[in-house]
Amino acid sequence: MSAIKVEGVSKVFAGAGGQSMLALSDVSLDIADGEFVVLLGPSGCGKTTLLRIIGQLESPTVGRVSLDHGNNGDRPLGFVFQEATLMPWRSTAANVALPLEMAGVPRRERTERVREMLELVGLPETEGKYPHQLSGGMRQRVSIARALAHDPQVLLMDEPFGALDAQTRDMMNAELQRIWLENRKTVVFVTHSVSEAVFLADRIVMLGTKPGHIHSITEVTLPRPRTVDMTESAEFRHLAAELRRQIGAVQDTDNRSAVSA
Ligand SMILES: Nc1ncnc2c1ncn2[C@@H]1O[C@H](COP(=O)(O)OP(=O)(O)OP(=O)(O)O)[C@@H](O)[C@H]1O
Ligand SMILES: [Mg+2]
Repeated sequence: MSAIKVEGVSKVFAGAGGQSMLALSDVSLDIADGEFVVLLGPSGCGKTTLLRIIGQLESPTVGRVSLDHGNNGDRPLGFVFQEATLMPWRSTAANVALPLEMAGVPRRERTERVREMLELVGLPETEGKYPHQLSGGMRQRVSIARALAHDPQVLLMDEPFGALDAQTRDMMNAELQRIWLENRKTVVFVTHSVSEAVFLADRIVMLGTKPGHIHSITEVTLPRPRTVDMTESAEFRHLAAELRRQIGAVQDTDNRSAVSA
């Protein structure tokens, strides 16, 4: 059964000077319950727009998105954005508790759940700390704990590790995979890093530009849990090379159309 169904979605933005621009054109995609899907593609191809439409932060101009709410009623979504969006005046624990407070979860249950989530992301000792006392990677882990706190069915992540150094990013990818293997949430994860996509994804949806559209869908069959060592394997490198070639082609097409225009 699909957790997310995107059907014929197009998005037009009103641009400067009253000109409109087509950001997405006729995108259709079925995402299965518990699947890890990565949206990959060059800058400006519409990854964030598609994610925001899936998350119902933005409405499509044409088409529709349906979410199967499962058992989670009206709280099916958790978001993690590129920059950790923690509240600086709240402790780590109070940040993670926020969605629970908003949902009216009683204090005792909240405390319990916050502890569980901080343990899950490997930060049990940071409860009383404030965001400025944490590293960038730790802040993103707290953001993940907060996104998971109300047990959403779907986790939407927009380049969550884009601001981290390469080593921390590898570590966070391994950590995210571990959390996902424990929870099996449906995840839609945006990146423009090919190796991050291959490391994490069950399926990679490559978007092309002008207008944003689905260029290809690639299944990644590497066994799990994937390890950093596997990124050196022939299969991993072959797949990454093929995806890089595709990104090049998408950009080439783009250049050609720009030249012929
Ligand atoms: N609110 C908006 N108003 C007008 N145009 C927008 C708006 N949001 C996005 N766009 C345009 O839509 C296109 C797709 O943008 P989007 O942010 O989805 O791309 P992206 O693939 O996430 O890029 P990046 O990798 O740089 O984050 C871009 O041309 C962008 O300028
Ligand atoms: Mg984006």
